[in-house]
Amino acid sequence: MGPARIHGMTAAKRKTQSDQNPEAEWFGFRRVAPQNKTALVREVFASVAGNYDLMNDVMSGGLHRLWKDRLVSQINPQANQTILDVAGGTGDIALRCARRTQGKADIIVCDINPAMIDVGRAKMIDHGILKGIRWITGNAEALPLPSLSVDIYCIAFGLRNVTHIDKALKDAARVLRPGGRFFCLEFSPGVHKSIKPFYERYCLKLLPQLGVWVAKDRQAYQYLAESIQRFPDQAALAQRIENAGLSQVKWLNMAGGIAVIHEAWRL
Ligand SMILES: C[S@@+](CC[C@H](N)C(=O)[O-])C[C@H]1O[C@@H](n2cnc3c(N)ncnc32)[C@H](O)[C@@H]1O
Repeated sequence: MGPARIHGMTAAKRKTQSDQNPEAEWFGFRRVAPQNKTALVREVFASVAGNYDLMNDVMSGGLHRLWKDRLVSQINPQANQTILDVAGGTGDIALRCARRTQGKADIIVCDINPAMIDVGRAKMIDHGILKGIRWITGNAEALPLPSLSVDIYCIAFGLRNVTHIDKALKDAARVLRPGGRFFCLEFSPGVHKSIKPFYERYCLKLLPQLGVWVAKDRQAYQYLAESIQRFPDQAALAQRIENAGLSQVKWLNMAGGIAVIHEAWRL
């Protein structure tokens, strides 16, 4: 992991309109009707679920583990908290939170895709974690949870896949209690210029090929690479988090901005 700097909103405030959701029309580099995007994304993760954890290690050289460790260090989960892991997939964040809180926190994993949840549930049993985690199927844009019901909201490598990002951010603000905290770990197109040409070639050329070799699935990994390019950069995402009603947004670049943690407060 490269040197990390925390950036605050005031340093790089931008004018962006809220609720534009420009990504809703893009499935990677393919233009789609927004009403079809969610189903296309669901298909991607249904197809990769069985190989998802292995592919994460292969394509990031294991770095995703360090990024997730860093996210959970920043969350600093506590035993009495309700922790919501949205787009939680195979449960990597929930697993780390459960270990740190020794099963004493109320952890909810919410994902739109039952296939990813099934892999996550089995993984948790393999790790001997049998209680403290609830698994629910639901869309980040309209979480099946009451308002003001969670202390921590986190979404790791999930927001990029959501059709209407601004709706998901608003729903994060809705479910968080006052004093609650928001965290988003995501790939970013805003990488440092010294690595940008290499990184873009890696994403757009090598990544889909790794998908073929390891998961026998080019399209899913091509989508992954393209979706990173379509995602808002650090400052634009920070502005949209603030527009959704969250406060004191800051972000941390890791590996030259390849992966970024945004965090904010629900005041
Ligand atoms: C790249 S995986 C991330 C999984 C996990 N958080 C991790 O870090 O390994 C993205 C996850 O987002 C889920 N997802 C996509 N769109 C979603 C939505 N609208 N609401 C909830 N989950 C969604 C997918 O099913 C998938 O499990």
